[in-house]
Amino acid sequence: MIAVEPSSESWVKAATGDLTTLLLDHAHCEKKAASTAIRFLFKYPDWSALVLAMSRLAREELVHFERVLRELEHRGVTFGPLHSANYAAELFKACRGHGPREARSLRLGCAEENAPVIDEMLACALIEARSHERFERLAEVVPDARLATFYRDLAEAEARHGSLYVELAEEAAGGPVDARLAELVAHEARVVARPNQALRMHAGG
Ligand SMILES: [Fe+2]
Ligand SMILES: [Fe+2]
Repeated sequence: MIAVEPSSESWVKAATGDLTTLLLDHAHCEKKAASTAIRFLFKYPDWSALVLAMSRLAREELVHFERVLRELEHRGVTFGPLHSANYAAELFKACRGHGPREARSLRLGCAEENAPVIDEMLACALIEARSHERFERLAEVVPDARLATFYRDLAEAEARHGSLYVELAEEAAGGPVDARLAELVAHEARVVARPNQALRMHAGG
C-alpha cells in the first residue's frame, strides 16, 4: 500500500457538498485510467507482464467507468464533458526524460536506462493510490449507504492497481524503487493540494 498524504478536510467538505460534480469527474478518471492502460499496451508490446496486466486493467477500469455512469443515472445526471484539473499531467511533468523511442529497446532491469519508464509507472501508481485514499475517505462520510458501498468496492481495486504499477516499476528497475517513490509522493502531495482549483476527484480542497 502506498501511503499518500491524507486528503484535507476542506476537500472532504467540498466533495460531499457537490457529489454530482465529483461523480462526473470520477467517470472521466475511470475512462482515462482505461485509456492509459491501453496506451501502455501499444507503447511496451514486448513487456509480457505489463501486456497481460494492462489488458486486464483496461477492462476493469471500463467496468468502473460503467459503474460510475450507473451512479450518475441513479441521480438523474447525464454524463458529459468536464474541464480537467490536469492533476495527472502535473504528475507526469515530474517524470525523468522520455520513454524509449522504440518500444522494443526497453531492457527490463536497467534502473538508469529505464528511469523514464520507472517514473511513468510510479506516477500511475500514485494516481491509483490517491483514488484509493479518497474513496476510503468518501466511504466514511457520504450519507448514502449505496454510495458508501460503491466507494469501498472501488477503494480495494485502486489500492491493488497502485501495487501493480509499483511492481512494474520494480521490474523495469530490477530492484526496489522506494527512494524515487518517496520523492514522487512528496510531489503528488503538492499537486493534489494546489490552491484555487475547482472540485475534482484529485483537486479542489
Ligand atoms: Fe478504477
Ligand atoms: Fe485503477
